[in-house]
Amino acid sequence: MASEAEKLRKLILKKTAEFQRARAKTVVEFDRNTPRVEVSGRVFDEHDVAALVDASLEFWLTAGRFADRFESELADLFGLRHAMMVNSGSSANLVALSALTSRFLGERRLRRGDEVITSAVSFPTTVNPIFQNGLVAVFVDAELDTYNVDLLKIEEAITSRTKAVMVAHMLGNPFDAARLSEICRKHGLFLIEDCCDALGAKTGGKMAGTFGDFATLSFYPAHHITTGEGGAVLTDNPVLKRAAESMRDWGRDCWCKPGCDNTCGKRFGWKMGGLPSGYDHKYIYSNIGYNLKATDMQAALGSSQLKKLEKFVAARKENFDFYLEFFRKHAEHFVLPRAYPGAEPSPFGYLINIRQGAPFERNDMAAYLEGRGIATRMLFGGNIVRQPAYNGENFRVVGTLENADRLMNNTFWIGVYPAITGEMREYVAGVIEEFLSKY
Ligand SMILES: Cc1ncc(COP(=O)(O)O)c(C=O)c1O
Repeated sequence: MASEAEKLRKLILKKTAEFQRARAKTVVEFDRNTPRVEVSGRVFDEHDVAALVDASLEFWLTAGRFADRFESELADLFGLRHAMMVNSGSSANLVALSALTSRFLGERRLRRGDEVITSAVSFPTTVNPIFQNGLVAVFVDAELDTYNVDLLKIEEAITSRTKAVMVAHMLGNPFDAARLSEICRKHGLFLIEDCCDALGAKTGGKMAGTFGDFATLSFYPAHHITTGEGGAVLTDNPVLKRAAESMRDWGRDCWCKPGCDNTCGKRFGWKMGGLPSGYDHKYIYSNIGYNLKATDMQAALGSSQLKKLEKFVAARKENFDFYLEFFRKHAEHFVLPRAYPGAEPSPFGYLINIRQGAPFERNDMAAYLEGRGIATRMLFGGNIVRQPAYNGENFRVVGTLENADRLMNNTFWIGVYPAITGEMREYVAGVIEEFLSKY
């Protein structure tokens, strides 16, 4: 016989699903008289809300069985041995790069002053961990039609001080990861693939994120799947896994899960650093770490959302392809997006890339769309070197950042996320036709 609590749990979950189904019915249809087309947003159903409530009722609060399950689902999806959930994509990047400075890596660990090559066209928290770890960022240019880092420029920037490359698969369009991992292998460099905007993207039939030492993911509501706030770090390397876990979990040496003791079997048997012999392993710190763990509530939602990933990616592709076909007709004014041979993008947005010399400016076009209820976004930090945050900071630039400037000045993106319907796309295309007809 089910206990009273178990019966109530089932009833609550049933009612939660009913609530969500009823609420979903009240969502207002797209209306051309008061149009609104967002760039991104959470896409969820009754199963997601029930999963979140289920984990809330369990009230474990920190990372527990739901996090274990989500981590193993993510690892399986990528075919990698380890996935570690964290509380954001930014934390995932911080954990991954900080792990490369860990004592667990011995002589290979990155030290203050070592150089990390990255793209000048970046989201800030792809590059911030370089500064936060006292390393030197080396910025190189991006390509105008893939928005990805230019691999030739990476090769030019490599010196004896270079120790790692940390770059994002931009807007879900994977860079040539096989070639970049080959360059890194040849020069003995670590590679971190920021896949925060590219979950589900593939290249050469392999998931983007499986070519480097670490992959990072974001589950912020704008991304392919959401856990609210949330992210993950993935690796196939057990030493890097332990280093990342330690950085995530206060820098500790101990690897017990929350609520567990003595996983190592000699909790009071260690002698490390200047500590007295037998000092509790739970309180031994090998790394200067953080606490960036996520919770079971986030993980339960993650597992439920992950089931829909394929469908979400297919919807994003369909919207992206619609805009690509539309802009082909106007290629005299726009640089069309390019994917590498063998790449299967998992689009984050559609970048409208206005040709140099077009008879209109980016700001005019973006304002026109915004004025008609179509949300727009810049390409993250643009040429990030020009952002006030980095003024006077310790970095190098190799080559010109000509394309980065052009991407900063001439582009903006519109949404392709699954809630965008055929009717909305047609509306957006109509508004753009209307704008272009003036020129
Ligand atoms: C490429 C890239 N990396 C990292 C992040 C950070 O993710 P989060 O917002 O979860 O911290 C983002 C955010 O959108 C991003 O676009």
